[in-house]
Amino acid sequence: MPVLEIVDLKKRYRKIEALAGVTLTVKEGEIYGLLGQNGAGKTTLVKIMLGITRGWEGKAFLLGEPAGTPYVRARVGYLPEDHRFPDYHTGYSLLDFFGQLLGMSGAERKKRIPEMLEQVGIADRMDYKIRTYSKGMKQRLGIAQALMHTPDVIFLDEPTDGVDPVGRRDIRELLLQLKKRGTTIFLNSHLLGEVELICDRVAILRKGKMIREGDINSLTKQKGRFLIGLAPGQTMPMDEIRTLGYDINPREERWEVHLTDGQGIDPVIDLLRTRGLNLRHLVEKRQTLEDLFIETHDEDAGKRPKRPRREQTEEIMVVQPIDEDRKP
Ligand SMILES: Nc1ncnc2c1ncn2[C@@H]1O[C@H](COP(=O)(O)OP(=O)(O)O)[C@@H](O)[C@H]1O
Ligand SMILES: [Mg+2]
Repeated sequence: MPVLEIVDLKKRYRKIEALAGVTLTVKEGEIYGLLGQNGAGKTTLVKIMLGITRGWEGKAFLLGEPAGTPYVRARVGYLPEDHRFPDYHTGYSLLDFFGQLLGMSGAERKKRIPEMLEQVGIADRMDYKIRTYSKGMKQRLGIAQALMHTPDVIFLDEPTDGVDPVGRRDIRELLLQLKKRGTTIFLNSHLLGEVELICDRVAILRKGKMIREGDINSLTKQKGRFLIGLAPGQTMPMDEIRTLGYDINPREERWEVHLTDGQGIDPVIDLLRTRGLNLRHLVEKRQTLEDLFIETHDEDAGKRPKRPRREQTEEIMVVQPIDEDRKP
Protein backbone atom coordinates (compact mmCIF):
# COMPACT_ATOMS: atom_id res chain seq x y z
CA MET A 1 0.00 0.00 0.00
CA PRO A 2 1.42 3.42 -0.93
CA VAL A 3 2.01 5.89 1.90
CA LEU A 4 0.59 8.67 -0.20
CA GLU A 5 -1.75 8.35 -3.11
CA ILE A 6 -2.96 11.42 -4.91
CA VAL A 7 -5.09 11.33 -8.04
CA ASP A 8 -6.09 14.41 -10.01
CA LEU A 9 -5.94 16.67 -6.98
CA LYS A 10 -7.36 20.14 -7.56
CA LYS A 11 -7.58 23.16 -5.30
CA ARG A 12 -8.74 26.68 -6.08
CA TYR A 13 -8.49 29.82 -4.01
CA ARG A 14 -11.08 31.94 -5.78
CA LYS A 15 -9.39 32.79 -9.08
CA ILE A 16 -6.11 31.10 -8.24
CA GLU A 17 -5.75 27.52 -9.33
CA ALA A 18 -3.25 26.35 -6.71
CA LEU A 19 -3.42 22.70 -7.81
CA ALA A 20 -4.64 21.85 -11.28
CA GLY A 21 -4.92 18.07 -11.21
CA VAL A 22 -1.88 16.51 -9.55
CA THR A 23 -1.33 12.76 -9.53
CA LEU A 24 1.46 11.15 -7.54
CA THR A 25 2.27 8.16 -5.37
CA VAL A 26 4.79 7.88 -2.56
CA LYS A 27 6.02 4.46 -1.54
CA GLU A 28 6.92 3.34 1.93
CA GLY A 29 10.43 4.21 3.03
CA GLU A 30 11.30 6.62 0.26
CA ILE A 31 12.37 10.23 0.30
CA TYR A 32 10.09 12.04 -2.08
CA GLY A 33 10.77 15.60 -3.14
CA LEU A 34 8.13 17.99 -4.38
CA LEU A 35 9.92 20.74 -6.26
CA GLY A 36 8.86 24.01 -7.71
CA GLN A 37 9.24 27.72 -7.47
CA ASN A 38 7.36 29.78 -4.95
CA GLY A 39 3.66 29.69 -5.64
CA ALA A 40 3.82 26.33 -7.44
CA GLY A 41 1.38 24.72 -5.00
CA LYS A 42 3.71 22.64 -2.81
CA THR A 43 2.51 23.92 0.56
CA THR A 44 -1.11 23.64 -0.55
CA LEU A 45 -0.61 19.97 -1.39
CA VAL A 46 0.94 19.17 1.98
CA LYS A 47 -1.74 21.07 3.87
CA ILE A 48 -4.43 19.14 2.03
CA MET A 49 -2.77 15.85 2.97
CA LEU A 50 -2.75 16.88 6.61
CA GLY A 51 -6.35 18.07 6.61
CA ILE A 52 -5.37 21.71 7.23
CA THR A 53 -6.65 22.92 3.88
CA ARG A 54 -10.11 21.85 2.82
CA GLY A 55 -12.37 22.32 -0.17
CA TRP A 56 -10.43 20.35 -2.76
CA GLU A 57 -11.32 17.87 -5.47
CA GLY A 58 -9.80 14.57 -6.49
CA LYS A 59 -8.49 11.65 -4.50
CA ALA A 60 -5.97 11.96 -1.69
CA PHE A 61 -5.04 9.09 0.59
CA LEU A 62 -2.51 9.15 3.39
CA LEU A 63 -1.55 5.80 4.92
CA GLY A 64 -4.55 4.26 3.25
CA GLU A 65 -7.11 6.70 4.67
CA PRO A 66 -8.65 9.79 3.08
CA ALA A 67 -6.51 12.89 3.68
CA GLY A 68 -7.48 14.66 6.87
CA THR A 69 -8.62 11.52 8.74
CA PRO A 70 -7.93 12.56 12.35
CA TYR A 71 -6.43 9.37 13.76
CA VAL A 72 -4.00 9.07 10.84
CA ARG A 73 -2.51 12.39 11.90
CA ALA A 74 -1.02 10.62 14.95
CA ARG A 75 1.24 8.63 12.62
CA VAL A 76 2.40 11.72 10.77
CA GLY A 77 5.01 14.37 11.59
CA TYR A 78 4.95 17.86 10.09
CA LEU A 79 7.45 20.67 9.84
CA PRO A 80 5.49 23.66 8.55
CA GLU A 81 7.03 26.27 6.32
CA ASP A 82 7.98 29.49 8.18
CA HIS A 83 7.09 28.01 11.54
CA ARG A 84 7.51 30.36 14.46
CA PHE A 85 7.78 28.67 17.79
CA PRO A 86 7.13 30.84 20.81
CA ASP A 87 10.69 31.97 21.49
CA TYR A 88 10.34 32.28 25.25
CA HIS A 89 10.46 28.47 25.25
CA THR A 90 13.71 26.61 25.42
CA GLY A 91 14.28 23.75 23.02
CA TYR A 92 13.46 21.35 25.83
CA SER A 93 10.34 23.10 27.05
CA LEU A 94 8.99 23.40 23.52
CA LEU A 95 9.26 19.67 22.92
CA ASP A 96 7.78 19.06 26.36
CA PHE A 97 4.81 21.19 25.38
CA PHE A 98 4.33 19.33 22.07
CA GLY A 99 4.76 16.01 23.87
CA GLN A 100 1.92 16.92 26.21
CA LEU A 101 -0.28 17.86 23.26
CA LEU A 102 0.50 14.48 21.75
CA GLY A 103 -0.57 12.82 24.98
CA MET A 104 2.85 11.52 25.98
CA SER A 105 3.36 10.78 29.66
CA GLY A 106 5.86 12.73 31.79
CA ALA A 107 8.19 9.74 31.94
CA GLU A 108 7.99 9.20 28.20
CA ARG A 109 8.75 12.85 27.52
CA LYS A 110 11.69 12.87 29.90
CA LYS A 111 13.24 10.00 28.05
CA ARG A 112 12.29 10.98 24.54
CA ILE A 113 13.14 14.71 24.50
CA PRO A 114 16.88 14.50 25.16
CA GLU A 115 17.09 11.64 22.64
CA MET A 116 15.37 13.74 20.00
CA LEU A 117 17.52 16.79 20.65
CA GLU A 118 20.59 14.60 20.49
CA GLN A 119 19.45 13.14 17.19
CA VAL A 120 19.04 16.54 15.56
CA GLY A 121 22.30 17.75 17.05
CA ILE A 122 21.16 20.52 19.41
CA ALA A 123 21.21 18.69 22.75
CA ASP A 124 23.85 21.07 24.09
CA ARG A 125 21.48 24.01 23.59
CA MET A 126 18.30 22.46 24.97
CA ASP A 127 18.17 24.77 27.99
CA TYR A 128 18.67 27.95 25.96
CA LYS A 129 15.75 30.07 24.83
CA ILE A 130 14.72 29.58 21.23
CA ARG A 131 15.33 33.27 20.57
CA THR A 132 19.05 32.57 20.87
CA TYR A 133 18.90 29.89 18.16
CA SER A 134 20.16 30.32 14.62
CA LYS A 135 17.82 29.55 11.72
CA GLY A 136 19.48 26.17 11.30
CA MET A 137 18.96 25.31 14.97
CA LYS A 138 15.31 26.35 14.74
CA GLN A 139 14.85 24.08 11.73
CA ARG A 140 16.47 21.21 13.62
CA LEU A 141 14.20 21.84 16.57
CA GLY A 142 11.27 21.87 14.14
CA ILE A 143 12.35 18.51 12.78
CA ALA A 144 12.69 17.16 16.34
CA GLN A 145 9.15 18.39 17.00
CA ALA A 146 7.93 16.61 13.86
CA LEU A 147 9.60 13.39 15.01
CA MET A 148 8.56 13.42 18.69
CA HIS A 149 5.96 10.70 18.37
CA THR A 150 8.05 8.46 16.04
CA PRO A 151 5.79 8.99 13.03
CA ASP A 152 5.74 6.63 10.05
CA VAL A 153 5.79 9.53 7.65
CA ILE A 154 6.99 13.12 7.93
CA PHE A 155 6.20 16.13 5.81
CA LEU A 156 8.89 18.78 5.74
CA ASP A 157 8.01 22.05 4.07
CA GLU A 158 11.22 23.76 2.94
CA PRO A 159 13.37 22.15 5.64
CA THR A 160 16.62 23.78 4.53
CA ASP A 161 15.35 27.22 3.59
CA GLY A 162 17.43 29.92 5.25
CA VAL A 163 19.88 27.39 6.68
CA ASP A 164 23.62 27.77 6.06
CA PRO A 165 25.48 25.15 3.99
CA VAL A 166 26.79 23.20 7.00
CA GLY A 167 23.35 23.15 8.57
CA ARG A 168 21.90 21.98 5.26
CA ARG A 169 24.32 19.12 5.07
CA ASP A 170 23.50 18.13 8.64
CA ILE A 171 19.79 18.18 7.88
CA ARG A 172 20.35 16.03 4.80
CA GLU A 173 22.32 13.53 6.85
CA LEU A 174 19.62 13.47 9.47
CA LEU A 175 16.99 12.73 6.84
CA LEU A 176 19.08 9.91 5.43
CA GLN A 177 19.37 8.41 8.92
CA LEU A 178 15.61 8.60 9.30
CA LYS A 179 15.13 6.91 5.98
CA LYS A 180 17.37 4.08 7.19
CA ARG A 181 14.98 3.58 10.07
CA GLY A 182 12.14 3.22 7.62
CA THR A 183 10.51 6.62 7.96
CA THR A 184 8.89 7.84 4.76
CA ILE A 185 9.88 11.43 4.05
CA PHE A 186 7.98 13.89 1.91
CA LEU A 187 9.74 17.19 1.42
CA ASN A 188 8.90 20.39 -0.35
CA SER A 189 11.71 22.46 -1.69
CA HIS A 190 12.49 25.21 -4.15
CA LEU A 191 16.20 24.44 -3.71
CA LEU A 192 17.01 21.95 -6.40
CA GLY A 193 20.60 21.08 -5.66
CA GLU A 194 19.64 20.01 -2.16
CA VAL A 195 17.01 17.60 -3.21
CA GLU A 196 19.13 15.97 -5.83
CA LEU A 197 21.42 14.75 -3.11
CA ILE A 198 18.93 12.78 -1.05
CA CYS A 199 15.61 12.20 -2.80
CA ASP A 200 14.74 8.86 -4.31
CA ARG A 201 12.05 10.38 -6.46
CA VAL A 202 10.88 13.86 -7.26
CA ALA A 203 7.98 15.65 -8.86
CA ILE A 204 8.34 19.06 -10.42
CA LEU A 205 5.35 21.29 -9.92
CA ARG A 206 4.73 24.45 -11.88
CA LYS A 207 1.66 26.62 -11.42
CA GLY A 208 -0.23 23.73 -9.89
CA LYS A 209 0.63 21.28 -12.66
CA MET A 210 3.03 18.44 -12.43
CA ILE A 211 5.45 18.68 -15.28
CA ARG A 212 7.85 15.84 -14.45
CA GLU A 213 7.93 12.93 -12.08
CA GLY A 214 10.31 10.08 -11.55
CA ASP A 215 13.48 8.88 -9.93
CA ILE A 216 16.35 11.34 -10.10
CA ASN A 217 18.52 9.04 -12.16
CA SER A 218 16.06 8.55 -14.95
CA LEU A 219 15.02 12.20 -14.93
CA THR A 220 18.54 13.49 -15.22
CA LYS A 221 20.07 10.88 -17.44
CA GLN A 222 20.45 12.17 -20.95
CA LYS A 223 19.98 9.34 -23.31
CA GLY A 224 23.39 8.01 -24.27
CA ARG A 225 25.83 10.88 -24.44
CA PHE A 226 29.47 10.01 -23.90
CA LEU A 227 32.61 12.08 -24.01
CA ILE A 228 35.78 10.25 -25.05
CA GLY A 229 39.37 11.39 -24.70
CA LEU A 230 42.46 9.74 -26.19
CA ALA A 231 46.12 10.00 -25.25
CA PRO A 232 47.74 13.23 -26.48
CA GLY A 233 48.45 13.26 -30.19
CA GLN A 234 46.16 10.37 -31.01
CA THR A 235 43.35 10.88 -33.50
CA MET A 236 39.91 9.49 -33.32
CA PRO A 237 38.99 7.28 -36.28
CA MET A 238 35.75 9.20 -36.74
CA ASP A 239 34.94 7.83 -40.19
CA GLU A 240 35.25 4.25 -39.00
CA ILE A 241 33.07 4.95 -35.99
CA ARG A 242 30.48 6.59 -38.22
CA THR A 243 30.59 3.52 -40.47
CA LEU A 244 29.59 1.50 -37.41
CA GLY A 245 26.49 3.70 -37.27
CA TYR A 246 27.52 6.09 -34.51
CA ASP A 247 27.03 9.83 -34.34
CA ILE A 248 30.40 11.21 -33.26
CA ASN A 249 31.68 14.77 -33.28
CA PRO A 250 34.79 16.52 -31.99
CA ARG A 251 34.34 18.65 -28.92
CA GLU A 252 37.39 20.66 -27.93
CA GLU A 253 40.11 18.08 -27.31
CA ARG A 254 37.60 15.27 -26.97
CA TRP A 255 34.89 13.55 -28.93
CA GLU A 256 31.24 13.30 -28.16
CA VAL A 257 29.18 10.27 -29.07
CA HIS A 258 25.38 10.36 -29.16
CA LEU A 259 23.83 6.94 -28.97
CA THR A 260 20.54 6.13 -30.57
CA ASP A 261 18.10 3.53 -29.32
CA GLY A 262 19.63 0.14 -28.75
CA GLN A 263 23.22 1.33 -29.22
CA GLY A 264 25.82 0.74 -26.54
CA ILE A 265 29.18 2.45 -26.19
CA ASP A 266 31.19 -0.79 -26.04
CA PRO A 267 31.64 -1.35 -29.81
CA VAL A 268 33.25 2.11 -30.02
CA ILE A 269 35.64 1.28 -27.19
CA ASP A 270 36.46 -2.08 -28.78
CA LEU A 271 37.27 -0.37 -32.05
CA LEU A 272 39.62 2.07 -30.31
CA ARG A 273 41.39 -0.84 -28.61
CA THR A 274 41.84 -2.80 -31.83
CA ARG A 275 43.33 0.32 -33.42
CA GLY A 276 45.83 0.47 -30.55
CA LEU A 277 44.52 3.80 -29.27
CA ASN A 278 44.72 4.72 -25.59
CA LEU A 279 41.50 5.65 -23.87
CA ARG A 280 42.22 8.43 -21.40
CA HIS A 281 38.79 9.70 -20.61
CA LEU A 282 35.32 8.26 -20.86
CA VAL A 283 32.42 9.95 -19.17
CA GLU A 284 28.72 9.59 -19.44
CA LYS A 285 27.04 12.97 -19.50
CA ARG A 286 24.17 13.63 -17.21
CA GLN A 287 21.88 16.59 -16.73
CA THR A 288 21.54 18.13 -13.33
CA LEU A 289 18.11 18.59 -11.86
CA GLU A 290 18.63 22.29 -12.38
CA ASP A 291 19.12 21.80 -16.14
CA LEU A 292 15.93 19.83 -16.19
CA PHE A 293 14.11 22.46 -14.22
CA ILE A 294 15.20 25.21 -16.58
CA GLU A 295 14.33 23.06 -19.55
CA THR A 296 10.83 22.37 -18.28
CA HIS A 297 10.45 26.03 -17.43
CA ASP A 298 11.33 27.02 -21.00
CA GLU A 299 9.03 24.39 -22.45
CA ASP A 300 6.24 25.73 -20.36
CA ALA A 301 6.94 29.29 -21.47
CA GLY A 302 6.65 28.08 -25.08
CA LYS A 303 10.36 28.41 -25.81
CA ARG A 304 12.44 25.74 -27.39
CA PRO A 305 14.37 24.07 -24.61
CA LYS A 306 17.99 25.06 -24.70
CA ARG A 307 20.66 22.44 -24.71
CA PRO A 308 22.12 22.47 -21.22
CA ARG A 309 25.26 24.50 -21.01
CA ARG A 310 28.38 22.47 -20.72
CA GLU A 311 29.38 23.63 -17.26
CA GLN A 312 25.96 22.75 -15.88
CA THR A 313 26.24 19.17 -16.92
CA GLU A 314 27.43 16.73 -14.37
CA GLU A 315 29.98 14.18 -15.44
CA ILE A 316 29.86 10.62 -14.33
CA MET A 317 33.31 9.12 -14.64
CA VAL A 318 33.39 5.80 -16.36
CA VAL A 319 37.15 5.62 -16.77
CA GLN A 320 39.48 7.53 -14.48
CA PRO A 321 41.87 9.75 -16.40
CA ILE A 322 45.30 8.20 -16.33
CA ASP A 323 48.26 10.23 -15.24
CA GLU A 324 50.11 10.83 -18.50
CA ASP A 325 53.53 10.84 -16.86
CA ARG A 326 53.12 7.54 -15.17
CA LYS A 327 54.43 4.60 -17.14
CA PRO A 328 52.42 1.41 -16.97
N1 LIG B 1 -4.85 30.74 1.79
C1 LIG B 1 -4.69 31.13 0.53
N2 LIG B 1 -5.53 32.03 -0.05
C2 LIG B 1 -5.38 32.39 -1.33
N3 LIG B 1 -4.40 31.96 -2.13
C3 LIG B 1 -3.52 31.09 -1.62
C4 LIG B 1 -3.62 30.64 -0.26
N4 LIG B 1 -2.60 29.78 -0.04
C5 LIG B 1 -1.92 29.70 -1.20
N5 LIG B 1 -2.46 30.50 -2.14
C6 LIG B 1 -1.99 30.64 -3.53
O1 LIG B 1 -1.91 29.36 -4.10
C7 LIG B 1 -0.75 29.23 -4.92
C8 LIG B 1 0.13 28.11 -4.40
O2 LIG B 1 0.69 28.49 -3.15
P1 LIG B 1 1.59 27.53 -2.26
O3 LIG B 1 0.90 26.22 -2.13
O4 LIG B 1 1.91 28.24 -1.02
O5 LIG B 1 2.88 27.36 -3.17
P2 LIG B 1 4.38 26.94 -2.78
O6 LIG B 1 4.36 26.28 -1.45
O7 LIG B 1 4.81 26.04 -3.89
O8 LIG B 1 5.17 28.20 -2.76
C9 LIG B 1 -0.09 30.60 -4.89
O9 LIG B 1 -0.51 31.33 -6.01
C10 LIG B 1 -0.59 31.21 -3.61
O10 LIG B 1 -0.60 32.61 -3.71
MG1 LIG C 1 5.46 26.71 0.20
